[in-house]
Amino acid sequence: MDSIRVLGGRELNGRIPIAGAKNACLTLMPATILTDEPLTLTNAPRLSDIRTMTKLLQSLGAEAASLQGGQVLALSSHDLNNLHADYEIVRKMRASILVLGPMLARHGRAEVSLPGGCAIGARPVDLHLKALEAMGATLDLRDGYVHAKAPSGGLKGAVIDFPFVSVGATENALLAATLAKGTTVLNNAAREPEIVDLAQCLRRMGAHIEGEGTSTLTIEGVDRLGGATHPVVVDRIELGTYMLAPAITGGTVECLGGRLDLVGAFAERLDAAGIAVETTDEGLKVSRRNGRVNAVNVTTQPFPGFPTDLQAQIMALLCTADGISVLEEKIFENRFMHAPELMRMGARIEVHGGTATVTGVPRLRGAPVMATDLRASVSLILAALAAEGETVVSRVYHLDRGYERVEEKLSGCGAVIERIAG
Ligand code: UD1
Repeated sequence: MDSIRVLGGRELNGRIPIAGAKNACLTLMPATILTDEPLTLTNAPRLSDIRTMTKLLQSLGAEAASLQGGQVLALSSHDLNNLHADYEIVRKMRASILVLGPMLARHGRAEVSLPGGCAIGARPVDLHLKALEAMGATLDLRDGYVHAKAPSGGLKGAVIDFPFVSVGATENALLAATLAKGTTVLNNAAREPEIVDLAQCLRRMGAHIEGEGTSTLTIEGVDRLGGATHPVVVDRIELGTYMLAPAITGGTVECLGGRLDLVGAFAERLDAAGIAVETTDEGLKVSRRNGRVNAVNVTTQPFPGFPTDLQAQIMALLCTADGISVLEEKIFENRFMHAPELMRMGARIEVHGGTATVTGVPRLRGAPVMATDLRASVSLILAALAAEGETVVSRVYHLDRGYERVEEKLSGCGAVIERIAG
């Protein structure tokens, strides 16, 4: 297993290109199942999660070609001939469940293994299943699989009131509703930019959707969808992660392609911490306002609130802030696994349930640490950039699921970072 070695304590200065969003791409790719015609996604990120979704689609009989070094995905479900999403692929990635809605909507039947994914709490898929049931699907959970069937005339439009916000359940229901008979209304829908991106792509394919970006989505089902070419939206989590790099080390980094509307709540917390974020022609430029970092409190929320996927990374920053910061994790249970690893680097953190209290220390020190999940792994790299001495982060396969060319992007700004093949 590869590890990453960082020699910390250097300011970062330079420009970092931000890739297309992993989480948008993972919900856009299954949209191919809804049509016979080609779906081309441009600005795709080059990540192992995307390769896993590619394999999953191929296992169903879809064509999924990765062009231009992986930045373009050419998808076609013209010859889709298998409606069984196997455990061996699905277990690697929770987002695999997103093939369920499209398969049911277009083919009336699907068998999808119950997913695995990051070890951050229980993460059931009951809301996905209830939404599809409301659209008339019959579901049977057997042998670790969801065996799903649509009624003989196909899925039917329905009013679905989500009891709480779920990104994945909103996506699955939205995908399915595009081909359902009649109108579907999704209340308490997720408002994440990745949902907006999905709605825009589906509209290019001929879907009738209103309300993306608000908490009510209305979808008028159509008989068929066509092909489209769609650019994947910028990855706001990768953006936020690299915005933290100069915040934690000092220096100035311009994140190319960055947009403030994608990271509003996060940028507001950075501002309170004393980090300046400036919009430029090409993206967002970030630096410390007066050399110091103030402690700030953070509560994770669905969009437009502070994203849970940036909680681990901002914790790395707050480890060396002036004062005490309180971080409340409201989306996932058990999402502080990075805290004990940061403590190995000298951080002072106390975790009680969903609350972590971070008392700033003057500096972190390099140490051997272990990545426990995707966002935790990059928080350790951020901490290592600021730490005195050498840090080796092991089990970085988690990192490769969500960050492309991390070493290259950071070393381009002056970081001393290398991958050790293992
Ligand atoms: C997506 C993102 C993930 C991000 C999360 C929250 C992808 C591929 N992943 O995950 O990076 O951290 O949104 O912004 O886009 N829940 C249920 N039942 C369900 C579905 C969810 O109880 O059927 C719970 C989850 O356990 C969690 C909460 O609802 O506590 C929110 O999860 P959800 O928004 O669905 O996250 P994902 O779509 O899995």
